[in-house]
Amino acid sequence: MSVSIRPLRLGVNIDHVATIRNARGGTHPDPVRAALAAAAAGADGITAHLREDRRHISDDDIARLIRALKLPLNLEMAATDEMLAIALKHKPHAACIVPEKRAERTTEGGLDARGGLSHLSRFARDLGAAGIRVSLFIEPDTAQLEAARTIGAPVVELHTGAYCAAEGTARERELGRLAAAAERAAAFGLECHAGHGLGFDTVGAVAAIPTIVELNIGHFLVGEAIFTGLAEAVRRMREAMDRARS
Ligand code: PXP
Repeated sequence: MSVSIRPLRLGVNIDHVATIRNARGGTHPDPVRAALAAAAAGADGITAHLREDRRHISDDDIARLIRALKLPLNLEMAATDEMLAIALKHKPHAACIVPEKRAERTTEGGLDARGGLSHLSRFARDLGAAGIRVSLFIEPDTAQLEAARTIGAPVVELHTGAYCAAEGTARERELGRLAAAAERAAAFGLECHAGHGLGFDTVGAVAAIPTIVELNIGHFLVGEAIFTGLAEAVRRMREAMDRARS
């Protein structure tokens, strides 16, 4: 099947700027300032995950991001009534529903969209009715894509964690799963995003998958910012994505 190449957006996840701030409990470094720096350096959107335990981004950060940003905000959220109320109050451009476990260090796997059909359908319906673009963070798996389609979410974000963590032929295999899932998503009429764990050495192969239209990247960029500054890290990531797409 031939697919026309679409532009690829970069969503910069600023959660870990807040992680560093929270280590001392003050106001520095400010994730809103980081979001504005990322925007100036070429980000197409800003992503923030308001966790149930507020370990990084806070409620006040979300309110300030909404006020300060000219770029679209993608709010990552668990499918809970508390998060739904916050999303409906702030009306970000997009909401990405993610699984959340208190004890995990980061979002360890995709949603079980198949097992949570009726629960997730309610969230997709209520968020969508408020004009918020809904995506589901899932593993690159046909059953999960089918469930996302049934749920009625217009967007899926494929979890790239297994691909990034693998090496050698195992990484090639994971890349194949991502490419097949991205192609299937397009065939299902779903907009396809990807993210988790991506860095300079892993982004190119994912960026080259033609039906993926957005990558969300955070931890690596904030880590790299220590060495080069955030603007340079974002600029280099953008460049790596554009190179892979061209
Ligand atoms: N996409 C989703 C849905 C996520 O939950 C995360 C992590 O918060 C990311 C992308 C970004 O992952 P990373 O911080 O590893 O780049």
